[in-house]
Amino acid sequence: MKNVLTLYSSARPRGNTFAMVKVLTDLIPLQALYLDDLDIRDYDYDFGNQGDDFANVIDSMLKADVIVFACPEYWYALTPAFKRLFDRFTDLTELECLKVKGKALRKKQFYLFTTSASKKPSDAFVSVVSHTLNYLGWVFAGLVHVYCENKLDEGEAKLVLSDFVEQVSRG
Ligand SMILES: Cc1cc2nc3c(=O)[nH]c(=O)nc-3n(C[C@H](O)[C@H](O)[C@H](O)COP(=O)(O)O)c2cc1C
Repeated sequence: MKNVLTLYSSARPRGNTFAMVKVLTDLIPLQALYLDDLDIRDYDYDFGNQGDDFANVIDSMLKADVIVFACPEYWYALTPAFKRLFDRFTDLTELECLKVKGKALRKKQFYLFTTSASKKPSDAFVSVVSHTLNYLGWVFAGLVHVYCENKLDEGEAKLVLSDFVEQVSRG
């Protein structure tokens, strides 16, 4: 069994994105962090923000084999908490002490989990993640989407998560 870390974000802590993560939690052991509860500050050109939770999140990512970004689509974009985290990935490319960690994350597998009110996520939404991972040299291993016009259907979520569960269970 691979070691899975899920970072999730949503404007409602118990909404559809949480429900998707909850379905996964019932299927496999994983660590889940709710990004909106963490203190991850905006990118700072002068790096005056280094005492926040960013370094802890990166260390948690380094301990995992598989990292899941679970994020609803809001106006073709990531949530503000994910946008902040992605902006902060810049630190991994600029700060000497963090560059080695950014490179170590190239050995991990990254997945994007999302819910939206459309049959599939928009190209704009997915490409923010795929381009960022590609730029950093991180592996975009897969996308899992659950259609949620209203409340997430747990049966459907279980079904769309089955391939992912099989892959991480293989070890
Ligand atoms: C502010 C906002 C913007 C949204 N924008 C989109 C969108 O661009 N495309 C889409 O398909 N659904 C959109 N939706 C629907 C959500 O993606 C969908 O309901 C999702 O499951 C909500 O997850 P949550 O409960 O974790 O917030 C939007 C919802 C909100 C609240």
